[in-house]
Amino acid sequence: MIARRQLAIALAATLLLAPSLRSHAATAPTAPAAAQADAAPAAPPALYLGAAWYPEQWPESRWDTDLALMQQAHIRFVRVGEFAWSRLEPSEGHYDLDWLDRAIRAAQRHNIAVVIGTPSAAPPAWLTTEYPETLRIEEDGKRAQHGNRQQFDWSSPKYRELARAMAEQEARRFGHDPNVIGWQIDNEYANASYGPSTQAQFQNWLKARYGTLDNLNARWTTAYWSQTYNDWSQIPIETKPGNPGLLISWMRFVSDTWRSYQKNQLDVIRANADPRQFITTNMMGFFNGYNNDLVAQDLTMASWDDYVGTGQLNPVSNGAAHDLTRGFLRKNFWVMETQPGSVNWSPDNNPLNKGEVRAMAWHDIGHGADAVEYWQWRSALNGQEEYHGTLLGADGNPNPLYPEVAHIGADFAKAGPALAGTSVQSDVAILHNYDSYWAIDWQRHNKAFDPLATMIDWYGAVRALAHSVDIVSPSVPLSQYKLVVAPALNMITEAQARNLIDYVQNGGHLVLTQRSGMKNIDNGLYTQLQPGPLADLLGGHVAQFYALDTTIPVSGTWGTGPTKVWADMLTTTSPDTKVLMRYGKTPLGWLDDQPAAITRQVGKGRITYIGADLEGAPLAAAAKWMIADAGVQPEFGTLPPGVDLYIRKDATHEVWILINFGAAPQTVALPTAFTNVLTGTGGATVHTAALKQYDVVILQRPTSTPGGKP
Ligand code: GAL
Repeated sequence: MIARRQLAIALAATLLLAPSLRSHAATAPTAPAAAQADAAPAAPPALYLGAAWYPEQWPESRWDTDLALMQQAHIRFVRVGEFAWSRLEPSEGHYDLDWLDRAIRAAQRHNIAVVIGTPSAAPPAWLTTEYPETLRIEEDGKRAQHGNRQQFDWSSPKYRELARAMAEQEARRFGHDPNVIGWQIDNEYANASYGPSTQAQFQNWLKARYGTLDNLNARWTTAYWSQTYNDWSQIPIETKPGNPGLLISWMRFVSDTWRSYQKNQLDVIRANADPRQFITTNMMGFFNGYNNDLVAQDLTMASWDDYVGTGQLNPVSNGAAHDLTRGFLRKNFWVMETQPGSVNWSPDNNPLNKGEVRAMAWHDIGHGADAVEYWQWRSALNGQEEYHGTLLGADGNPNPLYPEVAHIGADFAKAGPALAGTSVQSDVAILHNYDSYWAIDWQRHNKAFDPLATMIDWYGAVRALAHSVDIVSPSVPLSQYKLVVAPALNMITEAQARNLIDYVQNGGHLVLTQRSGMKNIDNGLYTQLQPGPLADLLGGHVAQFYALDTTIPVSGTWGTGPTKVWADMLTTTSPDTKVLMRYGKTPLGWLDDQPAAITRQVGKGRITYIGADLEGAPLAAAAKWMIADAGVQPEFGTLPPGVDLYIRKDATHEVWILINFGAAPQTVALPTAFTNVLTGTGGATVHTAALKQYDVVILQRPTSTPGGKP
């Protein structure tokens, strides 16, 4: 649990201090044909190295020098424009896109493609002065001011109109530009608004969802504390603490409103852009201010901004954030921003170690990223982020990290052909939904129960054995997985329960852990004790839950260890449900000799419920047991300490990426012969890989069964 707390603190630091959270109709002309035709696009690389470039902050006479330095480092794309609204529309309706066109052409001359960020995260001063109603209202009722960014109200119709008009100008001008490969909408969606007009929209949203107040009152049990509503206009915005039905509804409204905010720009880009141009937005890993999964559904590609902040890369928790992002659309994604060494917004802005930036880039690719972009190329000479890591110094010359990034670029160019078309294919899935995260976080019941840390504990335990794990919503088809683990899946809708039941009945192995299946779609209690709609299938349920202030021993099939923080006391209701673990005797008394983990075979499938908060050896033993029982057959038992393995494959071949994050050098004995993608010559094969700290070894071999094991 100590490790869990540290993780929680580290994640909180990363999330709460994420920079953007701190924070800091006229007819559009179409593109001049001559400008677009002056160079044929180069073949797109399989792996893109990129940089966030802000041409609007520099004299044009400097652009070529910057782009030449990028080209030398094998940088193949720049993302531009995401904060440039005041340069793109200097006054209302007067657009100036010529400079952006010239920047795109300049990049093209250096074989550097362009991703355009729409600038709606940074409205210009004229806009918020002319239309103050577009400024966000904070929870304390104060209106945000100009001077930072993200000061807009995501629910404001006027703001949407202006942001859409701006995006339309860009899409009409660059939607068919051969050097523009994609679009990023806005930048790091984050802040809701809490004013009266948003509240009215929320009330209308509730009306559409619940139909009648009688229905809403019943489903939220508003008879409790006399909360009964007799007019929609009485319903407040509540963040916490409050009625659980009201809280979950607000978060769903916030998520739907981000989705429609995004769609407002997405539709106008799609209508004017080539289908080859992707449309994404840069999300923030575990940031849970809205349902990222839902909002991602309208995009053609997911992407996220991967910042370590203080300390060094934690490959487990960082890997989980990659896998979460990959799970939204269940395909490869981009790392749209990452730190060139250090950030400027953490309590301690230490740099990553020498070699760690390269190791981290390959860790990203191993988890399914096809691009890694450094934020930023060179820091502006003034502005809120003067201290942030960059690739050039304030003097405009490469800094000490530049050669390491150029090394990554050279690697990407060399390994790109091997990785082209490959993806991560997992036998194991971890289930994650935002509803469960929020539901537990509002009512932790024991403050040490951190739903995210719980998920990552299980993720780490199964990933250490399976080497590849998907993180997906309980609503997606699951038949491709041999094992599905649902850590603290507190809220399960009836449709999701049906999906999980079908999965087990069709031969899958489902493992539920503490607090799963307690809440219905309205964040209310199921009348069947947890796991609620899955209790009949399990042939057992949680008879009582206990928040612990003491350690309880637990022992059985997975050895002996402590359980802290939380204990679900289980009971079996079916003769074929087996007890795997039991709690030991303590002064608490209630848990003495009671079941702590139970399992039931269902045809060829199995459902298991783990009520104890396992850690250490029993956690590892439980992971080993479920992987073996489900028939997952990883080629390694465990890797040497510090070494991580990532596998990407297609029907014909697979690529293994080995990275040593530990201080001690390690040698990995490979199960078969491989060719070394970065250093191999003449088809020579290897059977071992030696790795010093931060070394990366990339290996390739044929896949003998399509998409399966050799
Ligand atoms: C990101 C943001 C960038 C920059 C960066 C600094 O969250 O999208 O614009 O602020 O952080 O770490």
